[in-house]
Amino acid sequence: MAQRPGGGQIDDVPDSADQRGYYELDTTVDEYLAFHYPDGDPLRDLLGDGVPGLDARYPYALRPLWSPVPDGLALDVGAATGRVTFDLARDHRAAVGIDLSRALIRAAAQVKTTGRARYRVQVEGRLFKSEDIAVRTRTSDAYFAPADALHLPFPSATFATVVALNLVDRVPDPRRALGELARVTASGGCLVVGSPFTWLATFTPPEEWLGGFERDGEPVRGADTLRAHLQASGFECRRAVRLPFFIPHHTRSGQLGLSHVQVFEKAR
Ligand SMILES: C[S@@+](CC[C@H](N)C(=O)[O-])C[C@H]1O[C@@H](n2cnc3c(N)ncnc32)[C@H](O)[C@@H]1O
Repeated sequence: MAQRPGGGQIDDVPDSADQRGYYELDTTVDEYLAFHYPDGDPLRDLLGDGVPGLDARYPYALRPLWSPVPDGLALDVGAATGRVTFDLARDHRAAVGIDLSRALIRAAAQVKTTGRARYRVQVEGRLFKSEDIAVRTRTSDAYFAPADALHLPFPSATFATVVALNLVDRVPDPRRALGELARVTASGGCLVVGSPFTWLATFTPPEEWLGGFERDGEPVRGADTLRAHLQASGFECRRAVRLPFFIPHHTRSGQLGLSHVQVFEKAR
């Protein structure tokens, strides 16, 4: 049985999920394409017409969190199907999206090539419908490659802006990932790290969790550990915001989450 990235056990993922990896599955690619490039308001049918603030919802609300650096480079770590990479490309000379999943990176590259997000949405059981969404953004300045967040294949201080969303609770060594994010951020640069801190032993051994347990009788929270870790590496936390996200599973179900996003500036 496989686990959803946000939590509980599920039984609608094929047995092959564990071998191929959850993020390599065709169904996962379709869900992330639907999440990053929704057809209108993905929550309207679920919650009714009165859902406020479509434009303020993840992932679109991220752009105000970084300052445009027209002659700088940007990096999106754990880019999945590339929505944030494309947003970063609008505000930088170029943006690179990397992900460990070759299937997701292939899908992102296809969106770049075609300017369209094509995916299947499960309606119910074996019933599916196809979506074909135009992606209107500066796709030509976005680049995608498979790579590991724990061994970023870039020289130190390369990127004016680095974003890692919903990644640190999906890697086996979150501290190493933070170290790599810190290393590739240029001095004076911006590092945006967000997570719902959904700790799961399948992705991160419990001894590596940044939070979600007690130490000396005190609760330890992932956002606090993450901030302290980056502060010790010369970063100042400038802002913290809560960003909702919704990953559809089928037309009447999905994963609604809240990412705790912190925006850091690296010392010059
Ligand atoms: C929960 S998803 C978040 C995707 C995207 N950042 C977002 O917020 O929509 C986690 C992503 O991290 C990727 N990932 C997991 N481990 C990774 C690693 N070691 N290096 C790079 N990407 C990784 C997964 O393939 C997946 O695309």
